[in-house]
Amino acid sequence: MERIEGLAKLTGRERYVDDLQVDGALWGMTVRSRAPRGRIREIRFDPAVDWSEIVVVDHRDIPGANEVLLIEPDQPVLAAERVRHVHEPVLLLAHPSREVVRRAAHAIEIEVDPEPPYLDVSVPPRPDQLQRGEDNVFKRLRIEKGDVDTALARAARVVEGEYRTGAQEHVYIETQGMLAWEENGVVFIKGSLQCPYYVHKAAIRALGREPDGVRIVQAATGGGFGGKEEYPSMIALHAALLTLAADRPVKIVYDRGEDMEATTKRHPAIVRHRTGVDADGRLVAQDIDVVMDGGAYVTLSPVVLSRGIIHASGPYRCENVRIHGRVMLTNSPPHGAFRGFGAPQTHFANERHMDVVAAAAGLDPIELRRRNLLLDGDETATGQRIVDGVDRIALLDQAVDLSGWREKEAAHAELARTDPWLRRGMGLACFHHGAGFTGSGEVMLASRLDVAGLPDGRVEVRSANIEMGQGTLTIFTAIAAARLGLAPSEVAIAEADTGRVPNSGPTVASRTAMIVGRLVEEACDDLRLRLGLPADARGEEIRQAVREHARATGEETVGRAEYEPPRGVLWDDATYRGDAYAAYGWGAYVAEVEVDLRTWATRVVDFVAVQDVGTVLHRTLAAGQVQGGVAQGIGWALMEECRWKDGAMQNAQLTNYIVPTSFDLPPIRVHFGETPWPGGPMGAKGLGELPIDGPAPAVVNAVARAIGVAPTEIPLTPERLMDLDRRAEGRHARIA
Ligand code: MTE
Ligand code: MOS
Repeated sequence: MERIEGLAKLTGRERYVDDLQVDGALWGMTVRSRAPRGRIREIRFDPAVDWSEIVVVDHRDIPGANEVLLIEPDQPVLAAERVRHVHEPVLLLAHPSREVVRRAAHAIEIEVDPEPPYLDVSVPPRPDQLQRGEDNVFKRLRIEKGDVDTALARAARVVEGEYRTGAQEHVYIETQGMLAWEENGVVFIKGSLQCPYYVHKAAIRALGREPDGVRIVQAATGGGFGGKEEYPSMIALHAALLTLAADRPVKIVYDRGEDMEATTKRHPAIVRHRTGVDADGRLVAQDIDVVMDGGAYVTLSPVVLSRGIIHASGPYRCENVRIHGRVMLTNSPPHGAFRGFGAPQTHFANERHMDVVAAAAGLDPIELRRRNLLLDGDETATGQRIVDGVDRIALLDQAVDLSGWREKEAAHAELARTDPWLRRGMGLACFHHGAGFTGSGEVMLASRLDVAGLPDGRVEVRSANIEMGQGTLTIFTAIAAARLGLAPSEVAIAEADTGRVPNSGPTVASRTAMIVGRLVEEACDDLRLRLGLPADARGEEIRQAVREHARATGEETVGRAEYEPPRGVLWDDATYRGDAYAAYGWGAYVAEVEVDLRTWATRVVDFVAVQDVGTVLHRTLAAGQVQGGVAQGIGWALMEECRWKDGAMQNAQLTNYIVPTSFDLPPIRVHFGETPWPGGPMGAKGLGELPIDGPAPAVVNAVARAIGVAPTEIPLTPERLMDLDRRAEGRHARIA
């Protein structure tokens, strides 16, 4: 099946928010704090500017609560008395000319009496840096299983390690943007977003309106990767406030610099491991401590931490596990959702650590993992029994075989003997990713979805889930067409408009294809039932019944579905025990790297990605998801470095924040095991995030084997690698 919106994107016909032309619209702009923390003393407007031409909005113009409501209401829409991070929004401006409003923003000085910022989670906050409770901790979570201390005391070996991962910028192709206008007393907000109902919830709170007084509509979205989960609420509220003040439509579109400086990034993390193994290299205890930098406001940090710790012990069997996690308030811009939600951070630490454990146990990395991977019937750290029929050892063996590991290792040894500068190495990572909201999250979301019969005999899927490049339009069309025996052209997907579609939940957590896709099937079944047709009715029967019902009743027939958890899935939020996710995807990735000892640059020369995500719904899109995730993971591992100074990103440009291009990437060879999962549409599980969990540890493990160092921190830039080698007594530092 062809990608539904593919041609429109390819030809430039697709309309993103920046392309929407609205008569009389103003351009909005945000004036931000330059200090990381302090009390606002004075706001000075340059008298050289004619301010009567410019609409100016501050916190006093907010009709409802000054809160960007999400998990906690701690983040203001516009700072009132204090600022808590650099680039925190303080004022909003609007003017018909984009250039005038931009210059005006530079003509405003926000004077702040500084207070000491807290910026480094590796040391506890001083008393004068405290801003939340007695320790600046946003959220603390723990998983406990068995008796870790006794098991560590009895272990044949105990191996310790500390691992660090940096912030990562999403670099969606389209920057954040929103358009707001008012029509018959209803505030419309349209733009680039992943979660229409998150924006809706935040808007009714801050604008002080009834639910039907605000309507949120998704415009074509040029990538999200989690970066359009929280921040769109902020920019939507800004556009709405300006529109209410100006009585004109207002559009705000960030340029790349503003987007990189001010919006969320992946949480930096520090993960410590203490691992006990027996004489055969079997895991007997895992003691894991996770600390994340949450930035200045809570945003989605608690769920990022939660997913991070649940995945922290990896896809392994171990009787005694203790995982403690905390996410801290710091005075950098809030960190937020990014593909993987904390799992890439903890998987990096765990899989890097597994190679260290293997070396200590005298095993090769493959053998250590073969001995410890979960078998069907084994339990995870939360006590979830895994029985899904996936052979995780077979996935590992397949990845190793396809990569040519054994032959290549021999060739690499030969290269090291003969070449003065080039070294190559193989690296491996095994990992898993739970799809859907964690624990009781899906039950609480209680997603609803409709499939309506249209008068012309077609059907329309009505959901709040959105296309952001990952394929929702195509996947929903394919699922509905297959379920009803219709052609793809007979299935329409409604625009994600909160005034028209039920709340099927946010487009996050790899849940759309798996969980909402299943609702598409159920709503199709319900539609068939309401049309009075037998369960096996398909194609022409459906088309005819839809048309006849419309003619006879003058109304459309609507099939409805509401989420119900698969039977036997139980989770306890209080103890963090039970079935954390209804289903997991499993992966085994192998990287081959080449390190140049003159430049310390690492190039990934080959990559094999083997995974089981249940039935593959669409080969091209699925392979694209894996290749994209691997590319993003390689960037995070080797080059994407956010450089911070006093809580502000110093390199907020694509010339100095380097992301991999196709030139920097190896062939990415994608293979799927396809063990159907009965709970998903046609047997599918979630796939979107899994591919970013494996690349960083696979690549860094490969570098470690190539040159015999033990990196613990990413991005592993040339500078960091050279430094590491020097500290390891310069085994390779040949240049004086
Ligand atoms: N792929 C593309 N092309 N663009 C994106 O923004 N987002 C990722 C992933 N793949 C993203 C993407 C993230 S963060 C998630 S949560 C999943 O897609 C969503 O997958 P789903 O549609 O199955 O929920
Ligand atoms: Mo993805 S981080 O859940 O949008």
